[in-house]
Amino acid sequence: MRRKLAAGNWKMNGLRADLAALDTLAEQRGFDVDVLICLPATLIGSCAGLPFAIGGQDCHSATHGAHTGDISAAMLADIGATHVITGHSERRSDHHETDAMVAAKSRAAHEAGLTAIICIGETLVQRADGSTLAVIDAQLAGSVPDCATADNTVIAYEPIWAIGTGKVPTTEQIAEVHAHIRARLAARFADGADFGILYGGSVKAENAAAIFAVPHVTGALVGGASLKPADFTPIIAALA
Ligand code: G3H
Repeated sequence: MRRKLAAGNWKMNGLRADLAALDTLAEQRGFDVDVLICLPATLIGSCAGLPFAIGGQDCHSATHGAHTGDISAAMLADIGATHVITGHSERRSDHHETDAMVAAKSRAAHEAGLTAIICIGETLVQRADGSTLAVIDAQLAGSVPDCATADNTVIAYEPIWAIGTGKVPTTEQIAEVHAHIRARLAARFADGADFGILYGGSVKAENAAAIFAVPHVTGALVGGASLKPADFTPIIAALA
């Protein structure tokens, strides 16, 4: 059975002085779930030797070239990353990333040997108008490349309206979407039953256990609550 994954996403937070938080996290316990911290690219190279995986938050779809300010998947791998988030809603909205771009970035991640954490999720308007599952279908079809396998890809379901807001879907709503994602993956990929499917959006110590009990939830992608060990450790513990 696939191990559970507690993935932190520091977003655009963190200077070198803040890496002490990772040492503190490492001291907390021997993790019996997989732990991953997706850091700003500037910090990844400073994290060798920690007892968990390190990831990036985005990569370019090209291997190299004239793309000022961008970073390739191979560059992330070169400094020790094993994972990269692709298609986070903040990238889709801030940088106008389309499903096709997310698929190309995910393909580039795979070619560099990275696991892509591909994010999908509906807006509040889409939730309200009943199109959530159609949105999920379109994003899965458009953002997940054909080269995806359970070994190189994790799906993260993040309702956009739940990110950083303190609002969380009901466990029934999470269950519906996760079961739907599982069915779509199983229909498309030979190993679709084995893909990890994370939930993300205002995960906290107080709601983690209930969310992790939902069928097909194999872990979490955690933003704000991953920044401090005191907040992230109980979430990791809830997965164990
Ligand atoms: O990548 C993480 C998500 O966007 C969730 O962020 O836990 O701060 O709501 P949050």
